Amino acid sequence: MNASSSRDLTVLGIESSCDETGVALYSTATGLLAHALHSQVELHARYGGVVPELASRDHVRRLLPLIRKVFSVAKRSFSDIDAIAYTQGPGLAGALLVGASFGEALAYAMAVPAMGIHHLEAHLLSPLLSSPKPKFPFVALLVSGGHTQLMRVGGVGKYTLLGETLDDAAGEAFDKTAKLLGLGYPGGPALAQLATKGTPGRFRLPRPMLHSADLDMSFSGLKTAVLTEFRKCGKSSADKADLAADFQEAVTEVLVTKSLAAVRSCKANQLVVAGGVGANQRLREVLNRRAALERIKVSYPPLEFCTDNGAMIAFAAALRIEAHGLPARPGTGPVFGVRPRWDLEALNCGLDRTGSASAATRPESDR
Ligand code: KG4
Ligand code: ZN
Repeated sequence: MNASSSRDLTVLGIESSCDETGVALYSTATGLLAHALHSQVELHARYGGVVPELASRDHVRRLLPLIRKVFSVAKRSFSDIDAIAYTQGPGLAGALLVGASFGEALAYAMAVPAMGIHHLEAHLLSPLLSSPKPKFPFVALLVSGGHTQLMRVGGVGKYTLLGETLDDAAGEAFDKTAKLLGLGYPGGPALAQLATKGTPGRFRLPRPMLHSADLDMSFSGLKTAVLTEFRKCGKSSADKADLAADFQEAVTEVLVTKSLAAVRSCKANQLVVAGGVGANQRLREVLNRRAALERIKVSYPPLEFCTDNGAMIAFAAALRIEAHGLPARPGTGPVFGVRPRWDLEALNCGLDRTGSASAATRPESDR
């Protein structure tokens, strides 16, 4: 630990990569002080999916009231902040820019460092917010709406990609299948809810790449198989519930089998699950049961931090401060960028720790 990390530092975290505005205050000495979230579900529901421009505008509207709220709950003010962390990517460019501009401007005004945080890094470190904390090294299954990856995590900033989906992310497959079954947005929780009313085993849905020799996955064929079965069946409520249950079972089997194979391949005994699909109860049930047979420990973030939130952003920044110290650079004002596409392994080379406008952090549009 270095000098800056041995004193109590307060980090403001801002998440605005997609359809949730999340804000949190995290103390490096005492942990999470307060967090607040606004979900845009209602805003996008009538369009059946996220409308990027509406998402950006709503982040603009929500950010300041949410920040005021966390200050009030934590009994802190702007002058108590030692660093401001915001999601720099990956995500929707316009939505990211709202959090980035706000974070950088505030950091510049308060003369404190601004830290651009990788959204997936924040997800995969979020199980460390739970107690007992998983210990490094562990394997992380990242299952969100945009990503499905298996990572070996050796420590903060030490990530090795072991396998990933070759097409749709698991959350995306949940969302698209839910839409097909006539369920609302967001599809994942709605489909999981419908699946509780159905009985799996009736439809013969494939388990794509289940027996491939690698740790890669594929979910787009599964969604097409659901479409084929849906066209053939009577489309009654019971048919839909059974199809939902079978779909959930197929995704679960692939995710569980690949995750446990990844843990074995690393000779590890600890798996952490992060990202929105990690909230799925059936996935947790099967994973916990099968992992226990192999004496593999499984950790999840607290349920409220499975999906996007500000706490994981502030927390990831706090872990980076603990590992590397507080960045010296204050917010840069007008010079900053977002990274709508950003490879998590790029963090390993250390280029992105300061969030400086180096080649590694230049906006996607500049390259
Ligand atoms: O991590 P997240 O909040 O946002 C991204 O970074 O993508 O994940 C959102 C994804 C969506 O695809 C949503 O449908 C899915 O997570 N999801 C679920 C459940 N809750 C959220 N999928 C299956 N079962 C759930 N209970
Ligand atoms: Zn996410």
